[in-house]
Amino acid sequence: EADLESKLPLKGKKILITAGPTYEAIDPVRFIGNHSSGKMGFDIANQAANLGAEVILVSGPTHYKTKNSSIEVISVMSAQEMYDACHKYYDNVDAAIAAAAVADYKPKEVALQKIKKNANEFSIELEKTKDILSSLGAAKKSQFLIGFALETENEIENAKLKIQKKNLDLIVLNSLQDEGAGFKKATNKVTFIDKDFNIEPMELKSKEFVAVDILNKVISHFSKS
Ligand code: CTP
Ligand code: CA
Repeated sequence: EADLESKLPLKGKKILITAGPTYEAIDPVRFIGNHSSGKMGFDIANQAANLGAEVILVSGPTHYKTKNSSIEVISVMSAQEMYDACHKYYDNVDAAIAAAAVADYKPKEVALQKIKKNANEFSIELEKTKDILSSLGAAKKSQFLIGFALETENEIENAKLKIQKKNLDLIVLNSLQDEGAGFKKATNKVTFIDKDFNIEPMELKSKEFVAVDILNKVISHFSKS
């Protein structure tokens, strides 16, 4: 009994995870998207379930699937849909991890018909999407809230600003400096920064092991509280 519990340190915990890109419609056949594969979020979800957690995985379009019965997958398309799904579950979770690459902007208007190539020049007006993670930070009660940050300059400073602006407990800074890290890769080089600005650079490793490192942070938080 005690042994089983030590192997399932997240038993009894509910964790909300976002994954993948979002697609923002331009017209019925086109969208603005990005190259996020969804792997990081799915790896975190699978590891969390292996550690005993009940997982709600809100994912944008991806080819990843999971058969784990402890993971409920909510498939969404746009940032607005991801926002709505997250807020539906957020009040009842113990932790949330935002691994999705949410589009920052969406077309201001969605054309009802396929846009024809009549004009020689064509532009689309964009407006900001809702910042899902910020809204979770604002609505936070006791949830342990983890975000990601992708920066190409002033990485640590910008990541610290995101912790404060979004009311996070921990941020996972993705280093693009490293050859092996990134969107289409199986590996990641991350630095953890907590809300007290403790900085912990990690080795380059597979996303599965980055997921383990992230969940160890969640486990140690719950063992303290
Ligand atoms: N995020 C989100 N909703 C958005 C944009 C971002 O929930 N509309 C989340 C991401 O899932 C990630 C974190 O916010 O966990 C940081 O994303 P990032 O793109 O690094 O930062 P932004 O706040 O979007 O700012 P910028 O792109 O200007 O650096
Ligand atoms: Ca962004």
